[in-house]
Amino acid sequence: TKDASLYTIGFSQCIGSDLWRRNMLDEMKMELSLHPGANFIYADADGNSKKQAEQVKNMLNKGIDLLIISPNEAQPLTGIVEQAYNKGIPVIVIDRKTASAQYTAYVGADNYQVGKIAGEYMHTILKGKGKVVEVMGLPGSSPAIERQRGFYDALAQYKGIQITKQVYGDWLKENAQKQLMQIQPELKDADAVFAHNDVMATGTREVLDKLKLSKNIKVLGIDALPGTGGGLQMVSAGVLDASVVYPTGGKEAIMTAFRILNKEPFSRETILQSLVIDSTNVQLMKLQWGKISSQQKDIERQQALIAEQRDIYNNQQMVLNIIVIT
Ligand code: FRU
Repeated sequence: TKDASLYTIGFSQCIGSDLWRRNMLDEMKMELSLHPGANFIYADADGNSKKQAEQVKNMLNKGIDLLIISPNEAQPLTGIVEQAYNKGIPVIVIDRKTASAQYTAYVGADNYQVGKIAGEYMHTILKGKGKVVEVMGLPGSSPAIERQRGFYDALAQYKGIQITKQVYGDWLKENAQKQLMQIQPELKDADAVFAHNDVMATGTREVLDKLKLSKNIKVLGIDALPGTGGGLQMVSAGVLDASVVYPTGGKEAIMTAFRILNKEPFSRETILQSLVIDSTNVQLMKLQWGKISSQQKDIERQQALIAEQRDIYNNQQMVLNIIVIT
């Protein structure tokens, strides 16, 4: 097999600018740093499926050894991903899926389960009775479809809870807010709002505050990211009542990529775990996260030191070489 350091991995991201996907990329970079020399080509499609398909096409033309992709919408990216796969390029689908089974591996949480967990939790905090508004992700993106189905199936078991209105917020705060302003009667009548991510859930809380409805209405989101502006902070500040952890899988995707490239055994489906974060466990999660991120900083400092030592060593080598040559 080819030396791992010569591999080129292409990563096609549907929309790179939000906190969740910045976290995903950070995790990838951290894991990539353990494979020095490997090439990594990154393209951000800015939430545009057509642009994403073109970016993947460019990567294929340039020549990549493996493709990692989080498809903005399932249908519009299916063709190009199948093309890559049928050319013999291994494809790792991460978080969002295409509409096809032609991929080498999938990394991500089970979004149907994520929706179901949210539904069960909703049933519990509403004590079995209430009206719910649902703010969904982008139509045609697989987590929106799967979360909606999971949430619906969980609540379908219980007679006391109705989903009175569903709107598409496209994963974006502004879009969610615009849609909510148009369904004020249902919002006023609601006992809770379930938004498919924390960005839209936080936007929901702002709308509720603006309409002076906030006090009684519960808001539930998904992602539960650590750090400034993340869901953990929002839950601990009481902006959100709860959030379901949705891990990014950045680290696992890169690990899977190298297993595939090195012809080692790998799992076709790496399903990441989710759980509900609310006021009862948010402090624990924040504490754990604080520890992990301080260890992460230690690792980065050590890496910087090693790099410095390597530079010194290389300089000395160069001096030696020059001496030999002259
Ligand atoms: C980030 C995001 C997350 C959500 C995921 C679904 O771009 O919107 O908030 O959980 O994508 O694919």
